[in-house]
Amino acid sequence: GKGIAVFTSGGDSQGMNAAVRAVVRMGIYLGCKVYFIKEGYQGMVDGGKYIVEANWSSVSSIIHKGGTVIGSARCMDFKERAGRLKAAKNLVDRGITNLVVIGGDGSLTGADLFRQEWSSLLEELVATKKITVDQQQKYRTLQIAGLVGSIDNDFCGTDMTIGTDSALHRIIEACDAIVSTAYSHQRTFIMEVMGRHCGYLAIVAALTSEADYVFVPESPPPDDWQKRLCDKLEQERQMGQRLNIIIVAEGAIDRNGDAITAEMIKKVVVDNLQQDTRITVLGHVQRGGNPSAFDRILGCRMGAEAVMALVEADENTEPCIISLDGNQAVRVPLMDCVKRTKAVAQAMADKKFELAVELRGKS
Ligand code: F6P
Repeated sequence: GKGIAVFTSGGDSQGMNAAVRAVVRMGIYLGCKVYFIKEGYQGMVDGGKYIVEANWSSVSSIIHKGGTVIGSARCMDFKERAGRLKAAKNLVDRGITNLVVIGGDGSLTGADLFRQEWSSLLEELVATKKITVDQQQKYRTLQIAGLVGSIDNDFCGTDMTIGTDSALHRIIEACDAIVSTAYSHQRTFIMEVMGRHCGYLAIVAALTSEADYVFVPESPPPDDWQKRLCDKLEQERQMGQRLNIIIVAEGAIDRNGDAITAEMIKKVVVDNLQQDTRITVLGHVQRGGNPSAFDRILGCRMGAEAVMALVEADENTEPCIISLDGNQAVRVPLMDCVKRTKAVAQAMADKKFELAVELRGKS
C-alpha cells in the first residue's frame, strides 16, 4: 500500500479532527500505511517523534473535539530550501510519497511548491548521500491532496471551508447573548467578528442575528456611511426597537481601503446619537469549541475523498483540493483554486470591489 501522511497547518479550525480521522481510517481501510505529521510543516522538517504511524484507534474519540489534536504551526523553516530538504529526507526515510494537507491557502500553496521541487530535492539528497539512488527512483513522485480548513470561508474553489459553520454557531450564540443584555439597557452593541479579508462570517452573522448594520471588506460603504448608519439606527429606535446591533468584520474597510474599526463606529454613534454603546470583540472564541454536525460530516467526507484521490493517482495526476460543490465532494486542481484566491486578494488590493465579489462568488 501507499505511504500517506496527514498534517494540519496554519490556523486551526473546528472539524479538522474529523478530517484527520477520516484520512487515517480510509487509508488503513484501503491498505495504506498512514502517518501523522505533528505540528504541521515544522514536524515534517524536524522528523523524529513528529512523524508517527497512525492506527485505527489513534483517531478514536477525536471527532467531537475542536482544534487539531495533531497540532498546527506557522513554520518559517519550511520557507527555506534547507528546511524542505530535511522534510523530503524525513518523508523518503519512511516511504511517504502522499500528503494530505489540511490548512488555508498559504499551507496549500506551500505544498504545491514542495511538490514542484520534489525531484530536485531528491537529486540533492542523492548527491549528498542522504538517500540512495534506489530510494530516489522508488519515491520519485510526490502526490498531494488538500483540504481547506479555515473558519474564514475565504478560499475560492469550495462552497464551505471546514470550520466556518462551527464558527458561525459560536458567533450566533454570542450575538443572542448580547441581544438580551442590550435589550435590558437599551444599548447599541458593535460586534467585531473574524474573517481576515473576507466578510463571509460577518454577513451571515448579520443576516441571522437580525443586525441593523454590517461592515464587510468586499463591499465598502458609501463615503457618507456615518450619516446612513445613524439614520438607520435612529429609525429603528423610533419604530420602538430597544437596541441596535452592528456587526463589523475585522477586515472592514472604506472605499479608500482604510480600516473601519469598531472604535470608529462607536465614536460615530456616541457623538451623533448619544446612544449608550459597547464593543464586543469575539476573537478566538470563534475558532474554539466543538465542531458542528455539518463540520464533522464535511471533515469526514473531505478526508475520505482525499485518500481516494491519492490512492487513484498516478505520476501524471495534478495535485487537487477536495472541494464541496453543491452537496458533492469533488476534486479540483489545487493551483486553479490558489490562483483564483490570489486574484480576489489582488482585486481587493486594487480596490476593484465588485470584481472581488464576482470572483469570490464563482467559488
Ligand atoms: O484565518 C483564521 C483566523 O482566525 C482569522 O479569522 C484571523 O484573522 C486570524 O486567523 C487570527 O490569527 P491568529 O490565530 O494567528 O491570531
